Amino acid sequence: MTRLKIVAGNWKMHKTLEESQSLITEIRGIVRDEIRSNTKVIVCPPYIALAAATRLLEGTGIGLGAQNCHFEEQGAFTGEISAGMIKSTGAEYVIIGHSERRQYFGETNETTALKSKTAIRHGLHVIFCVGETLSQREDKSYFRVVEAQLQEGLFHLDRKEFSHIVIAYEPVWAIGTGLTASPEQAQEMHAYIRKVVGMHYTDEIANNTSILYGGSVKPDNAQTLFSQGDIDGGLIGGAALKARDFVDIVKGMH
Ligand code: 13P
Repeated sequence: MTRLKIVAGNWKMHKTLEESQSLITEIRGIVRDEIRSNTKVIVCPPYIALAAATRLLEGTGIGLGAQNCHFEEQGAFTGEISAGMIKSTGAEYVIIGHSERRQYFGETNETTALKSKTAIRHGLHVIFCVGETLSQREDKSYFRVVEAQLQEGLFHLDRKEFSHIVIAYEPVWAIGTGLTASPEQAQEMHAYIRKVVGMHYTDEIANNTSILYGGSVKPDNAQTLFSQGDIDGGLIGGAALKARDFVDIVKGMH
């Protein structure tokens, strides 16, 4: 099994340019010894900090990602950012399909499909988010919902393209709420996602795909979550905004 363990920080709409530079400098200073050959640490600050972050992260082994991109190459889309623009900052990753984009900005399985294709064409790795809402958890449709997000948003990619995908399972009811999926609930979904990927591609591809958990991951629950067989790390929101907490979560990978 060669899949990477990954901890990625999604900073959402937090931090000015200066604040972003300070946080990256702080993280860079304390995370160094925690980066091993089979682990990856990624930060996803707001767009305005990407170019500066590239300079600060040079030679550290820490990856850099954006939080969204448009699916068109360029054009009259005021306020939008293309995959090529992200790539030009030095970033290597982009988060696509985050539930906040699905909820507040009209992201659909169809747009996530277009975005993943464009991002990969530009040489970016995609952190592709899936996850059910509370009502979907309660009415027990969560496996179906997540499977549709994968089928419609990702499975148009060919095998080579799919090798650039990291999946993040983020149950919407656990994001920013302090409610974490139990390690068993998360493991159950991660195993299901891996099975669905295996059925569509191959078991080898499924075994090589990193599947991250996101939703109220904190230093005190990270290790238990990450020790589950199919949980290959985390996508961290609130706790990624404090260098010490973020690095403590990174330590939970070992
Ligand atoms: P929290 O860690 O703040 O719950 O956010 C999770 C998330 O949405 C990461 O993308």
